[in-house]
Amino acid sequence: MFTYNVRMAPTDDELSAQLQPEVPHAARIWNYWMGGKDNFASDRAAGDAVAQVYPEIVLMAQHSRQFLIRVVHHLAAEAGIRQFLDIGTGLPTMQNTHEVAQAVAPESRIVYVDNDPLVLAYSRALMAQAPGQGRTVHVDADYHDPELILTEARKVLDFTQPIGVMFMGVMGYEPDLKVVASIVDKVMEATAPGSYLVLWDGTDTTPAVVEGAERLAQSGGVPYILRSPEEIGSLFDGLELIEPGLVQITGWHPAGEPEWLDAYGAVARK
Ligand SMILES: C[S@@+](CC[C@H](N)C(=O)[O-])C[C@H]1O[C@@H](n2cnc3c(N)ncnc32)[C@H](O)[C@@H]1O
Repeated sequence: MFTYNVRMAPTDDELSAQLQPEVPHAARIWNYWMGGKDNFASDRAAGDAVAQVYPEIVLMAQHSRQFLIRVVHHLAAEAGIRQFLDIGTGLPTMQNTHEVAQAVAPESRIVYVDNDPLVLAYSRALMAQAPGQGRTVHVDADYHDPELILTEARKVLDFTQPIGVMFMGVMGYEPDLKVVASIVDKVMEATAPGSYLVLWDGTDTTPAVVEGAERLAQSGGVPYILRSPEEIGSLFDGLELIEPGLVQITGWHPAGEPEWLDAYGAVARK
């Protein structure tokens, strides 16, 4: 494995300053809901404020990881995808994209992209410890700069071959759906035919989840914009949805009886 980041690697002191433990951070709140330990008191307070009115958020975090595992396994094992571009990676948890893909095909190449300093620190440590045949690279970048992401990803991935592009529960940090669509389109336009778009997001499908999102905004955490299933579906325009189409993510090739979840996603082929 190999790690690479765009900006000059910060020193440990610079990194601690960037961590801002007193300000709730998206990656750390998500880690808390997933049952992880990589979070501070401010993150737990913001996470608890949401869970008080919308306890299902914990299930959403956990089910979303199961969705990621099922999709990456499917793309690697059934569709022969050997390259993944996972944008808005989050903190490493059980079964990350590279582990799932490289368990099927050790030569798989993965580019992770996130703009959170703790994610960067963990990625550095994780990748230094994990030798393997494939390559796993972390790009420290904001998804509002798809050109930068593409420039860096091209150093590792072969854009003449199919890539699995992933936006997993991350596009709600951008309030304007048109901006979201243009980011997704720019990245997908750069990929070869036979590439896949994987995207899911939280939906405004129950009053409780809407209240949860309001609580998050009031807690000092970065607000998250819930969208309708139709809005999420529109991000796949021009691509071919694969079975079962746009569904609650618990219903995408489920292992058992799927639970209701305010989260819709799909996988589509270019
Ligand atoms: C809800 S977590 C989802 C993590 C992961 N995709 C998963 O499925 O578990 C959102 C992640 O998106 C990252 N993120 C938020 N805004 C971003 C941006 N503008 N550019 C890159 N990453 C961003 C956060 O740092 C965080 O790690």
